Order: sequence, then C-alpha cells, then structure tokens
Amino acid sequence: MSEVNFSLKGQVALVTGGSRGIGAGIVKTLAKAGATVLINYKSNEEAAQKVLNEIKSISPKSELVKFDICNGDEVDSAVDALIKKFESIPILVCNAGISRDALVVRASDEHFREILETNLLGTMHMVRALTRPMMKNRYGRIVCIGSIIGETGNKGQAAYAASKAGLSGFAKSVALELASRGITCNLVSPGFIETEMTQSLDETVQKTYFERIPAARFGSADEVAACVQFLASKEAGYITGATLDINGGLLMR
Ligand SMILES: NC(=O)c1ccc[n+]([C@@H]2O[C@H](COP(=O)([O-])OP(=O)(O)OC[C@H]3O[C@@H](n4cnc5c(N)ncnc54)[C@H](OP(=O)(O)O)[C@@H]3O)[C@@H](O)[C@H]2O)c1
Repeated sequence: MSEVNFSLKGQVALVTGGSRGIGAGIVKTLAKAGATVLINYKSNEEAAQKVLNEIKSISPKSELVKFDICNGDEVDSAVDALIKKFESIPILVCNAGISRDALVVRASDEHFREILETNLLGTMHMVRALTRPMMKNRYGRIVCIGSIIGETGNKGQAAYAASKAGLSGFAKSVALELASRGITCNLVSPGFIETEMTQSLDETVQKTYFERIPAARFGSADEVAACVQFLASKEAGYITGATLDINGGLLMR
C-alpha cells in the first residue's frame, strides 16, 4: 500500500501571483512539501524577492519569473524558457487575480476589461501554455483560484464575480479535455481570507463579516494553500473538474 503524505518532492510548480497574499502562502506551502517553485509576479519585485528568500534554504532551485499573465505572447515565451530549463512543470497554480469595485451603472469599459483580462484571460493564457508539455508527459495538476463571489455575486463586484464564475466553467471544460491524459484541473474557491486587503478593514466592518461567517473568523492564506497542496498532489489524481470551497461555512452546497 502506498504512503499518503501529499508530498510534492522532486516536482516543479509554477504559481502565478506568488509574490503576495494567498499566492505567497501557496509558494511557501508547496516548497515545504518538496516542490521547486517558480514564483511569478507582475511588478512588485521586492515582495517577490522576500518570498523567494524565505524558501531558498528548503527549495534551493526555486526562482522568480516576472511576466504579465494578461499578455499571451509574454506567457508563451516565459513558459517555453522555463520548460527548456526545468524539462517539465507538472503543477500549475493560477492564483494571480485583481479585485476592483465599481457599480455596474458607473463601470467603465476599462474596468470590465482590466478584471476579465487578468482573472479570466490571464488564466486561459497560463493553462494553454502548459497544456502541451503536460500532455506530452501524460501528467499534470492544474489548480485555479476562484472565489465565493463567483457563486454568490456581490454589490460593486459584478466584473469580479463574472470573471470568477467564468473560471469555474473554464476549469470544468479543461478537466473534460485533459482527463484522459492524466491531467486534472480543479478550482479552489475561497471566502474571506486574511490578506493585506482584509487586514485594512476597520474593526466594525470585520465584526459585521464575522457575524455572517459560521466559523466567525477570516481564513488564512496557509489554509487555502493546504487545499492547493492536496489538489496538486499525486494522491488527488481522481479529482477533476471539482470546486473545493474554503469559506468557514459561509456558502454550503
Ligand atoms: N483575499 C481574499 O479574501 C480572496 C478571496 C477569494 C479569492 N481570492 C483570490 O485569490 C487570489 C489571490 O488574491 P490575494 O488577495 O492574495 O491578492 P493580492 O494580495 O492582491 O496579490 C495578487 C498577486 O497577483 C499578482 N498579479 C496581479 N496581476 C498580475 C498579472 N497581470 N500578471 C502576473 N501577476 C499578477 C500580483 O503581483 P505583484 O505583486 O507583482 O503586483 C500579486 O502577486 C486572487 O485570484 C483573488 O481573486 C482572494
């Protein structure tokens, strides 16, 4: 009987938006699980370098990769170069995302475009670029980070909700296309998670949120990262097209 430990020893993982927040938590968890982690970021080099420094002693081959996931050509050439260097990248975590608030009545084209291009098109670019090498190896683990808002909607977050709902359909379609090649594609869908964004909310607002969350607290990036590690592991090979909710009971289905 094989041992169950969700180890990622000897594997290479590419994590988009690994420089801050949930992405930084995912990078550290995957590195602790034994993976070499390629930490993508867009512009915040200082934050990305800090994350790399933290994992360097346990994951010496890990490195930073700067590119904008919105730009398909940039993604393709960065992934090509990484495949040449690392031979295979069996784990892809599409975490990079942005959130901007605007009521639909006041939202500009630019607002809609910016959110959809990052959260949805950016993820599509990443998955497309890694699909062929994963198919060649007949193995892959793709994990996309969705959001509870994609299911429930939220005032002022219509574009964000649409992008995350879109990811859900995208992940299921990718799962169907690639299941017979040993490649899984799943969505981790967080509720409220402690990041710079939620930490800056004042105490009364936080308390209002807590009253709605059965667990009466925000989740942590480490807890989201544990879900990602599980779905990225060999042991999760029979789970595909699934959504793993992590929201303290705020949404049950
Ligand atoms: N925080 C929550 O409560 C929560 C809840 C549900 C879902 N989520 C989802 O979880 C994911 C991470 O959220 P977070 O709160 O951790 O975000 P965050 O702290 O704002 O970090 C966003 C990360 O994405 C990167 N990024 C943004 N645009 C990019 C682009 N075009 N190309 C490459 N990288 C890009 C940023 O890189 P730079 O550092 O270079 O800017 C940064 O590393 C997002 O998909 C978000 O929608 C978050």
